[in-house]
Amino acid sequence: MNEKIATIFGGSGFLGRHLVRKLTEKEYRVIVATRSPYLSGFLKPLGNPGQIELIKTNIYDEDSIRKILKKSDIAINLVGILSENKKQKFEFLHSEFTKLLAKLCAELNLKKLIHISALGVKENHTSKYMQSKFLGEKNIINNFDASIILRPSIIFGPEDKFFNTFASIAQFSPILPLIGGGHTKFEPVYVNDVAEAIVRSIELNIFKPTIYELGGPSIYSFKELLNILLKTIKKKRLLVPIPFSVARLNSYFLQMMPNPLLTPDQVELLKYDNIASGQFPNLNDLDIYPSNVQSILPKYIYRFRTGGQFG
Ligand SMILES: NC(=O)c1ccc[n+]([C@@H]2O[C@H](COP(=O)([O-])OP(=O)(O)OC[C@H]3O[C@@H](n4cnc5c(N)ncnc54)[C@H](OP(=O)(O)O)[C@@H]3O)[C@@H](O)[C@H]2O)c1
Repeated sequence: MNEKIATIFGGSGFLGRHLVRKLTEKEYRVIVATRSPYLSGFLKPLGNPGQIELIKTNIYDEDSIRKILKKSDIAINLVGILSENKKQKFEFLHSEFTKLLAKLCAELNLKKLIHISALGVKENHTSKYMQSKFLGEKNIINNFDASIILRPSIIFGPEDKFFNTFASIAQFSPILPLIGGGHTKFEPVYVNDVAEAIVRSIELNIFKPTIYELGGPSIYSFKELLNILLKTIKKKRLLVPIPFSVARLNSYFLQMMPNPLLTPDQVELLKYDNIASGQFPNLNDLDIYPSNVQSILPKYIYRFRTGGQFG
């Protein structure tokens, strides 16, 4: 058994569950530092008995984090949100928490910190999500040398938000919106490839903070992705271009939903292409040859087809 202990913050989410499986396959011992161990019990069968420990953690409390990191060799930060509410703020979750984490990793001499940021991060971005992710990266770079920052494009896989949300809308709506005309470009990356990149990053020998851009094998526009989705679920829907200004107006109402469908900040995000700059190493540099959307999407999105997998 690999005796290294990898601690994941945000491990019960979409990427987290795929990562836990990859780590246990490589025989790491895994600690999932989570707000709700009771609700994260589904992770336990992803490893051997005793291989995965779920620990209740308050990331606002330094001592709570220190206690867990004392037991760890590697820290992995997947904590993130796509929209804010009264309690959940980008600034703390994406930026201040990363500073605390990086400082504690340095203090406790951890072997490596892997941090998941986002493709397209840059200074002066008009989205608050991206601004906070940018500050998060800076906080890591300034505080802990043995860190690797991974910037994925939109991640797809069984529990993804992008394809599942639009497939759900297509169940009842005759139209799908093309925000900003649907021209925004993405480089969708498969969740298992991102999880594999994290695992390989752990073993890299680096002496200063290093950034990787994680994109899939092809670039698609928002409109092309919706067409691929509709073809896969065998549905015909009208794709209606919506100017950014109109989408922004609608988003003021949509953001009030418990799980907001669209926020003004997400409209800002859609104004920028989400593709690799090419200035940083990528998945190929980690010896990973990423899967494409067309080969993976039918394996999980079939439930939205009339007749399901037999449709
Ligand atoms: N999915 C994508 O397309 C995509 C693209 C680019 C970048 N990313 C980044 O990749 C990371 C993982 O994404 P994901 O899709 O797996 O997200 P996710 O499913 O929403 O999971 C995020 C995790 O963040 C943790 N979290 C949220 N608020 C928290 C709080 N107040 N205190 C403690 N933990 C909190 C939750 O952990 P617990 O519930 O266990 O506490 C949750 O499991 C995020 O940083 C995200 O920004 C994702």
